[in-house]
Amino acid sequence: MKRKLFIPIIIILVVIFVVGLSFYGLQIYVADQNFDTTDHALKSVIDLQAAATYNAYFAWTTLYDLVVQNKFAEASELTRDMRDNFPFIDSLEIDYGPPPDEDFMVTLDGELIRIAYPIRNDEETMTAPNAYAVTVIQAQKLLDLVSPYEFRVDTVHGRKTSYGIPISASLPLFSPWGIAFVVLLTCLIVWFVLQRYFHKSDFFLDTRGLESIIYLFEQTEKVSASHSRNVAIFALFVGKKLGFKGKRLKNLYVAALLHDIGKIGVPTSIITKTGKLDSREFAQMKQHPVISARILRSFKEFEHLSNIVLHHHEREDGSGYPDGLKGKEIPLESKIIAVVDVFEALVGERPYRNPIHPSSAFEKMKQMPLDQRIVNVLIEHYGELGAFRPPRWVLSYSPWMFAA
Ligand SMILES: [Fe+2]
Repeated sequence: MKRKLFIPIIIILVVIFVVGLSFYGLQIYVADQNFDTTDHALKSVIDLQAAATYNAYFAWTTLYDLVVQNKFAEASELTRDMRDNFPFIDSLEIDYGPPPDEDFMVTLDGELIRIAYPIRNDEETMTAPNAYAVTVIQAQKLLDLVSPYEFRVDTVHGRKTSYGIPISASLPLFSPWGIAFVVLLTCLIVWFVLQRYFHKSDFFLDTRGLESIIYLFEQTEKVSASHSRNVAIFALFVGKKLGFKGKRLKNLYVAALLHDIGKIGVPTSIITKTGKLDSREFAQMKQHPVISARILRSFKEFEHLSNIVLHHHEREDGSGYPDGLKGKEIPLESKIIAVVDVFEALVGERPYRNPIHPSSAFEKMKQMPLDQRIVNVLIEHYGELGAFRPPRWVLSYSPWMFAA
């Protein structure tokens, strides 16, 4: 029980860790991408504002003439309409001091963007040496323009953009929606993984349970046990030739492996009797497919195979048992097992007689009320049997198979 819980708990912890880490990584990646985009957009908007302002006002001979004459008040009057034309600009000043070399120079003052401009004539051949102009823009206003919800100016924790404007994501890394998403995804993955785990675990237990029964069966009746293994391989071979694949092929194999398991319920004296069975003994012997089916029904992984094993002694003409089914009434899988069961019984080693040659067995089988289409497939491909390599999963169903 402890072991049964240990693995699911480990699975849950690993899933939580992996999903959490992936989500965190994804958030970081998205935040990074958003930061780069915002940074780029912010720089473009500042450059555009600055270049437009410079061209509109500070490469203007009239303004230049007033500034070089130190008529700053009149010069400022000329720029009064600037805020109407550039609504992001909060203020403009013309100050004494050396002008910047470039058309504009951006600096940061807390949350304010200060852009300094030289004052030049129309042809930009002369620069006022005594003064420069400064416009001030609130960084948050531009940030709202380029990234309306996600970022805010944050001088304490913000990450610096191209002009040194520090910004932080407004959305927390783990929002309630994000956490809900992680929890939901984790639950889904855990549910899926545990489903698979417990399914596998059940299947393993069921298989082990059946293995144990078969093992006991093998110990009491060695001939039937090796017969079943041979029948299973022959059935697999013929099934493949008939186009069986995947689950259907596995089902055929397992059904063939277990078809005679019901002999466990028939007295050993009858099973091992070398002489002819009397009618009472034969009646008991005829019960073994019914018992096989009953055993398989008690294992949920194998209950769907019970009908196949139930009818593995039916014959095409209705002379078989237990239900006397005819032709199409008999499941195809049961017919295949019937054919290879007879074949193995004829060619296999028995303590009380020598095996007969396959060609003689085929001649006999042609006269029997078996499905002749299947008999023909076996005859036609029998030569390939020596080179037949069973699929890998065969071993997983019967690890004891090649041990003998
Ligand atoms: Fe049988």
